[in-house]
Amino acid sequence: MLAANRPGTPLLEVDNLHVAYGKAEVVHGVSFTVQRGEFVVLLGRNGAGKSTILHAISGLIPKRAGTVTFAGVNVTRASARDIVRAGMVQVLEGHRVFTSLSVEDNLLIGAYSGAITDRAVLEPIYETFPELAERRHQQASRLSGGQQQILAVGQGMAAKPALLILDEPSGGLAPLVVDRILDVASALCRTGIAVLLVEQLVEKALRHASFGYLLETGRIGGAGSAAELQDSALLRRVYLGGVEVD
Ligand SMILES: Nc1ncnc2c1ncn2[C@@H]1O[C@H](COP(=O)(O)OP(=O)(O)OP(=O)(O)O)[C@@H](O)[C@H]1O
Ligand SMILES: [Mg+2]
Repeated sequence: MLAANRPGTPLLEVDNLHVAYGKAEVVHGVSFTVQRGEFVVLLGRNGAGKSTILHAISGLIPKRAGTVTFAGVNVTRASARDIVRAGMVQVLEGHRVFTSLSVEDNLLIGAYSGAITDRAVLEPIYETFPELAERRHQQASRLSGGQQQILAVGQGMAAKPALLILDEPSGGLAPLVVDRILDVASALCRTGIAVLLVEQLVEKALRHASFGYLLETGRIGGAGSAAELQDSALLRRVYLGGVEVD
């Protein structure tokens, strides 16, 4: 396995996480970290347990065992609301926005979820995504799928996260939109915000992230810098089911 230790201050520390649906455990003792301002990708095949891990650390589903520490605070038992307020914000899979509300109200809901009441928080989001600024008073149902995903990312940004978690932002979107979202995620990292990305588009994800973990049916099978993981035998094993050769 490739080395998982790297310099920096841990922002998120997940230790020995187990998650089950009823009696069926699907996450079997997963440990990983995200450093402050770091861009980390969690890779793995369909059904490996990526979304389950994200939902568990965000407090959306219960954990069977393990510890989650965020910004030095044990948030293992904290509510989803308190976790968002602490600065860990997740953009769920499938660009879920409130389609009956306007673009702006969707962004404001993101802000309120992070206990942000100053509308000024929206300005940098509108600067980053002019298509949202142009459509701020339109109902979100009128946006394209790509624009809705951008809105979902904007909603996450509006909560002023220290860690933004993105679960498959590429889902069903055109490659250019995906590039744009990943470029924005990289830009957020340069402002000190950490990003934890789950993505099926492995090459694109590794081009943007600095560090990656590979999940194999509920267990971390390996980890390394994005450069180490690109083209590695480990990655081939995880995705192609082949034999690891080095
Ligand atoms: N609500 C649920 N109830 C029961 N089992 C579930 C539930 N959600 C997910 N699972 C199962 O847990 C396992 C992990 O699913 P999960 O959605 O976390 O995988 P994933 O890595 O996010 O996959 P994908 O790439 O398809 O999004 C799968 O076997 C899945 O069938
Ligand atoms: Mg998933």
